[in-house]
Amino acid sequence: MPAIVVVGGHWGDEGKGKVIDLLSEQAAMVVRYSGGHNAGHTVENPLGHFAMHLIPCGIFQPNATCIIGNGVAVHPRVFLDELAMVQKAGVITDGRLFVSDRAHLIMPYHGKLDGLDEDTWGNGAIGTTRQGIGPLYTDKASRLGILVGDLREPEAFRERLRFVLEHKNRLLTRVYGVEPFDLESVYTQYLEYGEKLAPFIAETGSMIREALARNQVVLLEGAQGTLLDVEHGTYPYVTSSAPTAGGAALGSGIPPTKIAKALGVFKAYTTRVGAGPLPTELLDATGDLIRTRGNEFGTTTGRPRRCGWFDAVSGRYSVEVNDFTGAALVRLDVLDAFPTVKVCAAYRLDGEAINRFPSSVRELERCQPVYEELPGWQTSTAGARRFQELPRQAQAYVRRLEELLGCPFDLIGVGPARDQSICLRPLL
Ligand code: GDP
Ligand code: IMO
Ligand code: MG
Repeated sequence: MPAIVVVGGHWGDEGKGKVIDLLSEQAAMVVRYSGGHNAGHTVENPLGHFAMHLIPCGIFQPNATCIIGNGVAVHPRVFLDELAMVQKAGVITDGRLFVSDRAHLIMPYHGKLDGLDEDTWGNGAIGTTRQGIGPLYTDKASRLGILVGDLREPEAFRERLRFVLEHKNRLLTRVYGVEPFDLESVYTQYLEYGEKLAPFIAETGSMIREALARNQVVLLEGAQGTLLDVEHGTYPYVTSSAPTAGGAALGSGIPPTKIAKALGVFKAYTTRVGAGPLPTELLDATGDLIRTRGNEFGTTTGRPRRCGWFDAVSGRYSVEVNDFTGAALVRLDVLDAFPTVKVCAAYRLDGEAINRFPSSVRELERCQPVYEELPGWQTSTAGARRFQELPRQAQAYVRRLEELLGCPFDLIGVGPARDQSICLRPLL
């Protein structure tokens, strides 16, 4: 069985954590391939409630080897804190958690520059998580990055840090007019991180390729979502990596031909954190009710998420970009309270109805949703475990979303817990 990638279908926070936690039981390996601790993946299982930022959500399944791939932005402190958190919950990580030596390190100046840029850009700000993600990927492309593997060679690491810091400090002091970073203190701190990280650092690309050669199931855990992809999202209101299925091969070190299936994750409505167009955004009591019922506040930053009805136009685009042959639809229970539910089936752009997802962010900003209104169910779905147990109206809603997306649902989520799931088809 080759690799299967799990990708966010909209703008992140779709429920990837829950889906990965559930699927990991059947996987030999779970690999994060992009983003960094801008991600917040919530897992609720018999061991507790966890907000995961870096370590794959497969860590709770004792048989899964978990890998932080080369495409991930690694903040060593976040990794070590998260490790301590899962270990405290009783998770045994020995010999089954690895960090790619090719992954890039988040350095103190990355977070600093992210914040300074956001503060300076005013109305042009992206609304980033301010964790240094953009500056890290900028450095990667500028060939100014520092790799996790560099920590294994203290002398070379010091020299590399001196070289990079000289440039960063020039930028910080001359352009931004703020204090420079001190080489010795950054070096000492990262040397300490390096010692703690040492048992986890590995050449992970070959480990994943070997697992595939052994015919083992490898799950690739996406972060963020398709519409935040730096190539295919609502640029410039995107993250700086590639969360789409295409990014999974690059960020893990396996050939694209080994990815057999892309599984999308959607929630039953649409949310977004940060700036940028969200055609179905509801700035009224309905939007507030979705936010309250869904507790839609960021896992990483605590920011209120912008909420709206399900956007099937952008969803269909996401199905095409990733070639989702199946998807999970979670948080159906959040819609239990509404007398009617709406789905955006098309956009109206400058007076004309369109089905395509515009590549121009200016066009997307002018798009008005064209809604279909369906009867609500106003009954709790939280206890349903089979599709037939869902109210007839909820079933019709799910079926209509499938039609509009052009992709069947394999799984329906009716609550945050692992078992609050309805399996429609085998996922793997
Ligand atoms: P991720 O970033 O894609 O992993 O998603 P987040 O964890 O940021 O946000 C998803 C939220 O939905 C989390 O609080 C989950 O516990 C929760 N969740 C996942 N599936 C369901 C579901 O089916 N119903 C409800 N009510 N909550 C869910
Ligand atoms: P998960 O994996 C939702 C958003 C930020 C901002 C934009 C750029 O939990 O789904 P960045 O810090 O990446 O430079 O910010 O991307 N963003 C997310 N939104 N879920 C996430 O991750 C996100 N990661 C980044 O809010 O709009
Ligand atoms: Mg999240």
